[in-house]
Amino acid sequence: MKVSIIGAGHVGLVTGVCFAEKGHQVLCVDSDSEKIEMLKSGKMPIYEPGLEEMCNRHAADGKLKFSTSNKEAVEFGKVIFVCVGTPSDANGRADMTYIEQVTKEIAESMTEYRIIAEKSTVPVLTGERVKLTIERYRKSDVPFDVVSNPEFLREGSALEDTLRPDRVVMGVSSSRAEEIMRELYEDFGAPVLVTDIRSSELIKHASNAFLAMKISFANAMSRICELSGADVKEVMQGAGLDPRIGNTFLNAGVGYGGSCFPKDVDALVAISSSLGYDLSLIRAVQDINREQLDHFLAKIERELWVLKGKKIAMWGLSFKPHTDDTREAPAIKIARMLMERGAKVKAFDPVTMPKAKKLLPDIELAENALDACVDADCLLLMTEWQEFIDTDLEEVKSRLKVPMIFDGRNSLDREKAGELGFVYHGVGRKPVRPAAIAGSYS
Ligand code: UGA
Repeated sequence: MKVSIIGAGHVGLVTGVCFAEKGHQVLCVDSDSEKIEMLKSGKMPIYEPGLEEMCNRHAADGKLKFSTSNKEAVEFGKVIFVCVGTPSDANGRADMTYIEQVTKEIAESMTEYRIIAEKSTVPVLTGERVKLTIERYRKSDVPFDVVSNPEFLREGSALEDTLRPDRVVMGVSSSRAEEIMRELYEDFGAPVLVTDIRSSELIKHASNAFLAMKISFANAMSRICELSGADVKEVMQGAGLDPRIGNTFLNAGVGYGGSCFPKDVDALVAISSSLGYDLSLIRAVQDINREQLDHFLAKIERELWVLKGKKIAMWGLSFKPHTDDTREAPAIKIARMLMERGAKVKAFDPVTMPKAKKLLPDIELAENALDACVDADCLLLMTEWQEFIDTDLEEVKSRLKVPMIFDGRNSLDREKAGELGFVYHGVGRKPVRPAAIAGSYS
């Protein structure tokens, strides 16, 4: 089938590449000509494992093409996926400027039946607006359908998530659209859930809000654990063994980040409020997430006493491993907070350093994980890349000025750190201190 993708960001580009992998003909369009030139020359605008190889393979076999023209996208694809950004505005609402702009352009160029499929995460009732906009701006009575087809991919495992999704949700309002969408996803081998458009839109927000709620729940428990001397890893493991709870997404840490959870949770609270319901449950999720980072900083400050002039080694800059995305990354936020308080931060991340330097010009970048530790007063683990977990703690100790670790992801070997004489702070677990200084401060 011929498919057009408007917006070659993380979701759009991965979706396009994966449709090509399944044998469809794909045209990926983005208004950013630099990005399109990069893609045409075989370079990826984002880091996503496996993307470059698959993208270039299908560019070479002719299944995947790139353009900057939305008009071309409308001419090319029977299904046009709208994958443009829906950033948060000042009040946390999803800013629909790009969606509206693209919808108008699609309407103006349409000459025969098209499906306009919302792939971007949008608030419930967006489909109605899209339909109305097309009816207003189309040149003639050309038929069309609006479909909601949310994306559930995770950055870092985006190809796998898209090629083998756990479900495909399609919100439709006609059997014609349903048939075409089913055909498009025929080879994905995933359960298909067909709903009305509004429910499909809400499924996406509900999914992300629920996952964010699981994380904030674990983080709230981590606070009780710290106050009572329990261990959050054990508490969540024990609770998660109940299949009704499930054992995933219950890792306490420095809070969720990224381009999706913070934005989508804000947008759900905002749309809910505009519909007349105060979604206080999810507002609490947001508060807990914010407090988690403040609490982590307070812990560092309590231990280091004066932050001004202290040298802090930081491992990880992206919001999670296997991505170079720094949006809402706890690492970037904490580095900024520490530097504002006069500390010097030297960081290492396997793929995110150029991006981080643009955001934080004062940050010092290390050659490698161990180099970051040289002469530092403590080490922070902010992103749980495997290479950090594998780094020998004895080597770390020999480089640090003070053997002290703040593990924001509960990922390093706490036992070993204790044996080696580190002061070790995780999240929601008892700190480890060498006997000589244990009890001298709290
Ligand atoms: C998230 C969802 O997982 C995807 O299903 C969804 O499609 C996507 O948003 C989206 O809306 O586009 P993503 O933001 O790529 O995907 O990353 P996640 O792996 O979900 O992690 C989000 C954040 O939660 C990260 O900062 C991660 O460190 C944090 N997290 C995750 C925890 O703090 N604890 C956990 O137990 C799990």
